[in-house]
Amino acid sequence: METVKNLEISLKSKKYKIFLGNNLLNQIDFILKNHLTNKNIVILYDKVLKDRLNILELSLSKVASKIASIEISSGEKSKSLNNYIKLCEQVIKTGISRDTIIVAFGGGVIGDLVGFVSSTLLRGLNFIQIPSTLLSQVDSSIGGKTGINSVYGKNLIGTFYQPIAVLTDVSLLQTLNKREILSGYAEIVKHSIIKDKVFFQWLEKNGPDIIMGNNQLRIEAILKSCRIKRSVVEEDEFEKGNRALLNLGHTFGHAIEGYLNYDGTILHGEAVSIGIIMAIKLSLKMGYCSKNDYERILKHFNDVGLPTSMKLYTSKIIDPLKLWKIMQNDKKMYKNHLNFILPDKIGKCTIRKDIKKSEVLSLLNEELRT
Ligand SMILES: NC(=O)c1ccc[n+]([C@@H]2O[C@H](COP(=O)([O-])OP(=O)(O)OC[C@H]3O[C@@H](n4cnc5c(N)ncnc54)[C@H](O)[C@@H]3O)[C@@H](O)[C@H]2O)c1
Ligand SMILES: [Zn+2]
Repeated sequence: METVKNLEISLKSKKYKIFLGNNLLNQIDFILKNHLTNKNIVILYDKVLKDRLNILELSLSKVASKIASIEISSGEKSKSLNNYIKLCEQVIKTGISRDTIIVAFGGGVIGDLVGFVSSTLLRGLNFIQIPSTLLSQVDSSIGGKTGINSVYGKNLIGTFYQPIAVLTDVSLLQTLNKREILSGYAEIVKHSIIKDKVFFQWLEKNGPDIIMGNNQLRIEAILKSCRIKRSVVEEDEFEKGNRALLNLGHTFGHAIEGYLNYDGTILHGEAVSIGIIMAIKLSLKMGYCSKNDYERILKHFNDVGLPTSMKLYTSKIIDPLKLWKIMQNDKKMYKNHLNFILPDKIGKCTIRKDIKKSEVLSLLNEELRT
């Protein structure tokens, strides 16, 4: 029996646990017995996990009364309105009732999409997340944001809807490529810069081994990271205030993804990585953080191989004004202000609402034209 760590998430809308460890998939019947016994279960899974579906089904079959599985194509395109409708109909066709449990088995795309399906079917079915990418294990599976994309932008249609449990199995990461691992790692470092200097120091020491595949260190990093996200989300479940701190690097990051048309040229975590560097450069420019902290963050990003410049992703000249315009269309615009989450130092960030267009444009010009 593998050791299972757990972390309780205690929110106004729901209390639930994240179960975390190595090789947990074939023990789900035991770990989540209370939730699954005699239940009708519908698994919605990323096609890429097809070879591991039978392990999950076998384990579930020891306790469940009925299991159906529905495959979803890999990739962001699956988070569309058309696909959402198709999936709802497919799930309904399996024969569901109010106590059916939906299982989301995949990365952030599956978690967001299936979470949204679960939150709307029969006015809300219980769902369990089994995140299979590092990014989803440290970020998207916690906090209850679900959603799909509109033709006008990403994640514009969605709900806040918490799962009843999360099963995080690091053995699933064995098949994930290094780019995807780094993309998830960017969100881990993000959490440390937002709230925990000691964790950042720990990452400076252990980052390379986490990326290389040390499972014990991965478990520790995920746990530490989830604790930080938990503390922010528990304080502000519906993002009325400080939850926005989790968007460090995302104002720039989303604009970079948008500029590159969300066509897969750049991964979300890569854009966030570059966005964090831009945020700290802006912070340095404004006099909010020290050169020493900026250099320390930059060094860590270089040491582990996180990208620090958008220029790596296009051979064309990048237009700063176009990037700025995309930023303004971000749904995080509030009362005509662009919010920037800027580090004051490693372990502390502030939501800044007073950054002038000229400051941002001058930074983008320095960044992109040289
Ligand atoms: N809800 C939230 O709070 C939140 C937070 C951050 C990101 N997100 C969303 O998450 C999505 C990005 O998440 P992601 O990076 O996990 O994307 P993803 O789900 O597309 O997974 C990335 C790639 O890895 C593949 N994959 C998944 N598991 C694998 C495994 N075990 N082995 C090999 N390949 C595997 C997928 O098929 C895909 O090609 C975006 O849609 C983003 O909007 C949501
Ligand atoms: Zn993110």
